[in-house]
Amino acid sequence: MSDRRYKATRTSMWDTNFIADARVATVESAPYKVAEGGITCFEMADNSLIGHISEWPSGIYHKAHYHAAGAILLVVRSHGYIYMWPKELGVRPFQNGKGDQVVKCNWKPGSIYSPPDGWFHTHLNSGPEPARHIALRLGSRKNPTTIHDASTRNNREGPTTSLREGGTLIEYEDEDPEIRRVFLEECKKNKVESRMPPITYRNDPLIVD
Ligand SMILES: [Fe+2]
Repeated sequence: MSDRRYKATRTSMWDTNFIADARVATVESAPYKVAEGGITCFEMADNSLIGHISEWPSGIYHKAHYHAAGAILLVVRSHGYIYMWPKELGVRPFQNGKGDQVVKCNWKPGSIYSPPDGWFHTHLNSGPEPARHIALRLGSRKNPTTIHDASTRNNREGPTTSLREGGTLIEYEDEDPEIRRVFLEECKKNKVESRMPPITYRNDPLIVD
């Protein structure tokens, strides 16, 4: 049985052909993507299938990012919601007056969702326990295909790299303030304490091309 864990740039990788229980498998810390949370990608049986397991605390949400279509996410634990919007609406769609085009969708254990091509998406855990998602897609490091392309900012490191550094990820400081405002409300409604780190928003323009 293969069982090798290693780092590829920022991403924690796991070469394995057997995951005994994805509900409890260890995930490594991934502060570049989610405060206090973890993400481990797995590549199985030397083929082009890849996936990841992500776990993050109650009262925490991910940084929004985009990539091509094809990732399918299964919710294993906790409940919360996602925001998704086409990148053409910009980094701050609510502030841009396009908030009515942002899709907000609730999730709970057993939910399955799949962000469309080039849509920013973020996963928010307003539920009472650590959230866990399992994602499956094509395009392993060994056998690359789909989801990334080499010529644009949507390359392999794009979703883990800030827009300001040529990637496709919105840092907390750059995000639309409406995201946190609503999140705090949702947490309060559920009697969940927000554990988000304090934020000072940047107001120098950030253009998505
Ligand atoms: Fe994603």
